[in-house]
Amino acid sequence: MHMHPVRIAPSMLASDFSRLGAELARAEAAGADWHHVDVMDGHFVPNLTIGAPVLAALHRVARVPLDVHLMITEPLRYAPDFAKAGAHVLTFHIETCANEAAARAVVRGFRKLGIERVGVSLNPDTEVERVAPILDEVDLVLVMSVFPGFGGQKFMPQVLEKGQRLRAAGFAGLLEIDGGVNRDTIAACAGAGFDSFVMGSALYGAADMGLELAHCRARAVEARGTSSRHGSS
Ligand code: DX5
Ligand code: ZN
Repeated sequence: MHMHPVRIAPSMLASDFSRLGAELARAEAAGADWHHVDVMDGHFVPNLTIGAPVLAALHRVARVPLDVHLMITEPLRYAPDFAKAGAHVLTFHIETCANEAAARAVVRGFRKLGIERVGVSLNPDTEVERVAPILDEVDLVLVMSVFPGFGGQKFMPQVLEKGQRLRAAGFAGLLEIDGGVNRDTIAACAGAGFDSFVMGSALYGAADMGLELAHCRARAVEARGTSSRHGSS
C-alpha cells in the first residue's frame, strides 16, 4: 500500500529559460512523469525564479502534470494564482507556518482551490515532527536533500532517514526528494522509501536526457525491489 509508481520529475530550473517550451518537450520525450517547477520569492530563499504567469504559459504546452514547489513565505496568498495557472501538485514549506493551525489552514486553502495533490516540504534542518500533525491531510511530502534556492548542489545523505521515519509514522502518500538526485544517489533514495524524484542538473545537463532518465528510473525500481516492500499503486 505504500508502494507508489516511480515518478521522475525533471526540474525546469536547470533548463534553458530562453526556450522553455522546447525544454519541456525535450523532458517529455525523455520520459518525464511530471515537470517540477521551482517558485522562489527572494524571501524564503535567497533567489528569484518564476511566478504564476510563466506557470500558466508552461501549462498551455505541457503534456504531463506540473509539480509546483513553492519556496515562498506566503503560500496561501499566492495559491489562487498557481491553482488557476494549472498546478497539479502544489507544495508549500512547513517552515513558513508558525504553528500547526497555520499549516492546516494552508492545506485546506489549497484544497478549496481544487488542487489535486497538496504537498508539504521540509528543509534539511527541519525535523519530521514538524509535519507529523498534518500527515493525514497531505498527499505528498517533499524532503529537501539540499538547502533550497539553487540547483546543482551536493546531495545530503543524512536526510534519507526522514523517508523511513515518515513511513514509520504511517504516511502512505507520495514521498518526493529534491536536491542533488542523480544516477549515484537515486538508489539510496528509493531504498529509503522515496517514490518521486526531482532531478534538475542531472537530467537537463545530460548528453542524452532520455538515456539518463531511463537509467535513473531503472536504478530506482531495482533499489525498491531489493528493499522488499509491500503492495502496489
Ligand atoms: C532547489 C530546487 C530544486 C532544484 C534541484 O532549491 O528546489 O528543485 O531544481 O536541482 P538539482 O537536481 O540540480 O539539485
Ligand atoms: Zn524544487
